[in-house]
Amino acid sequence: MTITEAPIPVRSPLPQALAGQTAVIIGGSSGIGLAAGAMLASLGARVVLTGRDKARLDAAVEHARAAGPDAEVLGVAGDAADDTAVEETFERAGTVDHVLLTAGGSPGAMPISEVTRDAARQAFEGRLWTALAAARAAVPRMNAGGSITLTSGGLVVRPRPGMTLVSAVGGVETLTRALAVELAPRRLRANTVRYGMFDTPLARGAIGAGADGAGDEVVAEAGRGTPLGRLGTADEAAAAVLFLMANPYMTGEILTIDGGQAL
Ligand SMILES: NC(=O)c1ccc[n+]([C@@H]2O[C@H](COP(=O)([O-])OP(=O)(O)OC[C@H]3O[C@@H](n4cnc5c(N)ncnc54)[C@H](OP(=O)(O)O)[C@@H]3O)[C@@H](O)[C@H]2O)c1
Repeated sequence: MTITEAPIPVRSPLPQALAGQTAVIIGGSSGIGLAAGAMLASLGARVVLTGRDKARLDAAVEHARAAGPDAEVLGVAGDAADDTAVEETFERAGTVDHVLLTAGGSPGAMPISEVTRDAARQAFEGRLWTALAAARAAVPRMNAGGSITLTSGGLVVRPRPGMTLVSAVGGVETLTRALAVELAPRRLRANTVRYGMFDTPLARGAIGAGADGAGDEVVAEAGRGTPLGRLGTADEAAAAVLFLMANPYMTGEILTIDGGQAL
């Protein structure tokens, strides 16, 4: 661990300051990661996107390049559950400023009577170990002032029956605070965005909505009962990540963005 006497660098906390910085998005080919990649590229950041499905990843790279024609965008296909693949991703990325982890999946609903050791191990490895492994690979390559952003969901604070395992992987929030303390001497930061329900392929799958018009109606219906009358967009979700990346004084924070859904 490199310990530095120098304080974290002061720089503009506005997202525009991310221009020229490198961001690795593990899970950058869909939903929130896809939106964050395009936004970062549009600001002139260098962006490295990962995902398992090569065709989807290639499309995401094209999408980000279209959003930021002058930005360098690299796609590295691989499974975030494979430690070697994660190491290789960071080797190819080189020096890194920011990491966003959206990969890891969700264990899905099941009553506690049906939760098996294997299901729990898969869920904890997918969310917690993947986050630790990504941090372990990233940190030695990160510039002072850089950040790691993880993701969690509103079930952490408002669990529902059948969602015990999904809620338990919210331990990622505890991990975030621990990482923030451990990485602070290197002047690196760690935060989590805690999401309500956003209109992404993941959420559409969870509520049985396809990408077609009928699916749009299911999404609209799911949003009607929320305080603001609709689900959030992937861009709105991604903007919260860029805020955490850009602001050098944000660390150890669990930032909720949910359109008031937790109320
Ligand atoms: N959307 C919501 O309403 C919501 C609510 C609460 C929390 N969240 C959390 O926010 C995060 C992002 O959600 P999202 O809605 O954007 O999901 P999404 O649309 O399903 O996107 C997930 C991304 O991660 C990649 N990915 C998944 N598993 C991976 C693995 N093992 N290795 C490498 N890449 C992997 C996917 O690509 P491949 O499948 O091709 O690998 C995809 O690019 C998730 O952690 C989710 O739990 C979302």
